[in-house]
Amino acid sequence: MEGGAATRLSGDLLLTAALLLLQSGAGVILVSGECGEPPRLNDGFPDIDLTQTSFPVGTRIRYRCNEGFSLAEGKSPLITCQADSSWTAFVTVCEANSCGAPPDLLNGYYKTTSVVFGGIVTYYCNEGYNLVGKDTQNCIAHGWDGRTPVCDAVTCDDLPPIENGKTPPLLQENWEYENAATFTCNPTYTLIGERTIYCRANGTWSDIPPKCKVVECFRPDPPITNGRIIAGLGPKYKYRETIIYQCNEGFRMVGNDSIECGENSMFPKAPLCISDEASTVMPTTRGPAEPPVTVPGRAPTDQKPSPTSAPKKDIGLILGLVLGLGAASFVGFGIAYWFLSKKKRGNSETAEKVPMSSPPKDVQAEPFSDELREVH
Ligand SMILES: *[C@@H]1O[C@H](CO)[C@@H](O)[C@H](O)[C@H]1NC(C)=O
Ligand SMILES: *[C@@H]1O[C@H](CO)[C@@H](O)[C@H](O)[C@H]1NC(C)=O
Repeated sequence: MEGGAATRLSGDLLLTAALLLLQSGAGVILVSGECGEPPRLNDGFPDIDLTQTSFPVGTRIRYRCNEGFSLAEGKSPLITCQADSSWTAFVTVCEANSCGAPPDLLNGYYKTTSVVFGGIVTYYCNEGYNLVGKDTQNCIAHGWDGRTPVCDAVTCDDLPPIENGKTPPLLQENWEYENAATFTCNPTYTLIGERTIYCRANGTWSDIPPKCKVVECFRPDPPITNGRIIAGLGPKYKYRETIIYQCNEGFRMVGNDSIECGENSMFPKAPLCISDEASTVMPTTRGPAEPPVTVPGRAPTDQKPSPTSAPKKDIGLILGLVLGLGAASFVGFGIAYWFLSKKKRGNSETAEKVPMSSPPKDVQAEPFSDELREVH
């Protein structure tokens, strides 16, 4: 304890001596009782001549902060060289400057690593908007650098004028994301397609513009046999108006019970009413597993292979032959085969009792009556 007091005392003396020397301008003489290099401050530095490595007792050093950092408010930025050759402890700290919250982005949003010096903000645009400008800003000493980007709405192509109708006028510079365009047709014209289309997020329209057509269907003639119309008597029909059919007692419907006036002013094929009796008689006269013995007369005579006995193998075989025979006979065979397979399908359909709900599309009145005639 005594020794410490003595050191302090002699230190004070030395300090006095040093100060006297400094004041007299005789230069600094380094003696014991000096402090060494001042301690480091995070994100700051001592405001001294960097070449100076020792400091007399009583020296006060001020700290400053690096760029982007500021001294904590209300705390002394000074340290002092004490008589025991140690520096007083720091009370200050350097705090990163805040750039504040980034500006809000209309039709977009941002994410930040931090909003203080060194932080980065990244901007994003909402769906249907394109970012114009740089998508990032850095928090530098004086705030966010550069310029905040903007989110511009995606635009869609101009709409062409439509015939016999009106294309909606463009009320702004461009058609933009989520804009709706509603078309109208001139009187007596029917709008085919979507009345309203939308500009989508990727700059495409939700649909092609509609068409304006004159659509008028007439009640199909001749009327359905063994059935009747139960709704939509017509005789004229507008686009999409329907006729609904019903079969008479003892008859079964093949096809959709309702048909719709199409944009080509035509109804699709009306359903058929088939006698319940006819469809039960068929399998007894000609079973589905039983291959037909004779090829119906409609097929060209130069065709030998039976289409029902392993047709796949035959195709391979015949294809080989046909390659040699040439293109002409190939075409001939193709036509013949098509006839035969069609015929065969007709047979199995009538035999298997075609379900009402899903009639095959190519079942037609003609083949049916042909079959019936042949069978009886
Ligand atoms: C645009 O987006 C729609 C779905 O919203 C998609 O079906 C279409 O293929 C896209 N077109 C292009 C060119 O990307
Ligand atoms: C029948 O036709 C109508 C249109 O007229 C359609 O909406 C319906 O889906 C069709 N039904 C079947 C089973 O095909």
